[in-house]
Amino acid sequence: MSVPPANDLLLRALLRQPVPRTPLWMMRQAGRYLPEYRATRAKAGSFLKLCMNPELACEVTLQPLERYRLDAAILFSDILTIPHAMNLGLEFEAGEGPKIARPVRTPADIDRLPIPDPEGELRYVMDAVRLIRRELKGRVPLIGFAGSPWTVGTYMVEGGGSKSFQHIKGMLYGAPRELHRLLDVIARATLAYLNAQVAAGAQAVMVFDTWGGALAPSEYREFSLRYMQYLVEGVTREREGRRVPLILFTKGGGQWLGEMAGTGCDALGVDWTTDLADARRAVADRVALQGNLDPGVLYAPPNEIRVQVGKVLASYGRGHGHVFNLGHGIHPDVPPEHALAMVEAVHELSPQYHV
Ligand code: CP3
Repeated sequence: MSVPPANDLLLRALLRQPVPRTPLWMMRQAGRYLPEYRATRAKAGSFLKLCMNPELACEVTLQPLERYRLDAAILFSDILTIPHAMNLGLEFEAGEGPKIARPVRTPADIDRLPIPDPEGELRYVMDAVRLIRRELKGRVPLIGFAGSPWTVGTYMVEGGGSKSFQHIKGMLYGAPRELHRLLDVIARATLAYLNAQVAAGAQAVMVFDTWGGALAPSEYREFSLRYMQYLVEGVTREREGRRVPLILFTKGGGQWLGEMAGTGCDALGVDWTTDLADARRAVADRVALQGNLDPGVLYAPPNEIRVQVGKVLASYGRGHGHVFNLGHGIHPDVPPEHALAMVEAVHELSPQYHV
């Protein structure tokens, strides 16, 4: 039997339970801004090889915890492990982002898609989760994650990152039934994947909907939110005698926070374009909120970072249910001391909001 986490501030805050200070972690906390990450990635040979090596994935997951007083570990992996396991030919070219060699564009492409076995093709991810849990020794909780079906779908259809979403929007408006068939396959694969992560030891799960904000409101509901709702309904929410909180994050989704809260998730990630006070009103304390410092603040000097951290804490205000985070991933060219200034400021400035 594993022991319950010693620092469970994250789990308590995600469930809007009382905490003595605001817990925090950083999206992309294990990443290129850390020299020790770049060294381990070089040892692995590539980003994908790093993801597929449980020992090295565990090593980089723990690196930011050695440097900073963070309240969570997040599994080191990627949202594109699922298309990779579907055999679509994923590659990460240095500085260019992901490329998918065999994009999914036709009904026949959709028919051919397998649903990967999380303990088969994706076993390396579950092995990483098990190893990280063992190495954490209960220090902080471990967050598992997946991409939203819509967001993973954009990469599968476009064949990589996109600005215009030419192919998937062509499908959305021109062949919506086909797109629903595709999203349904991705959603079923993602549900099995998240549930396997929980079974392997993930203590909270987060769904990253990076591109939901590219959709018009009715299309957001139909093609993104609907499939996240399916995940909310299917993900295991109780394990080792504790609730496993589920966080939804749609980047650019500030106007939909109320609807997102209605899915039955426990918490919502908020990017920096929405004020947390407005977000809190929109969700009416039905869910916890996670966010939302502009990652660009970390380019400023430490004293100014502290001021901006103070503003985010004040915008959420008094009471529980806030997890401090960046509004999106930390940029690779941020000095590590600037991240330290942010972490220390949250420790110093947040207790006053919990008395
Ligand atoms: O947060 C963490 O520390 C956990 C690890 C994590 C990574 N990717 C590692 C990574 C998580 C949670 C992700 C999620 C992810 N991956 C998302 C959703 C979150 C978001 O950022 O919006 C998306 C859209 C992806 C797909 C992806 N992976 C892209 C577009 C890129 C290239 C862009 C970039 O930042 O270079 C990646 C690569 C990637 N994923 C890196 C890391 C640390 C950089 C790869 C490297 O080391 O060269």
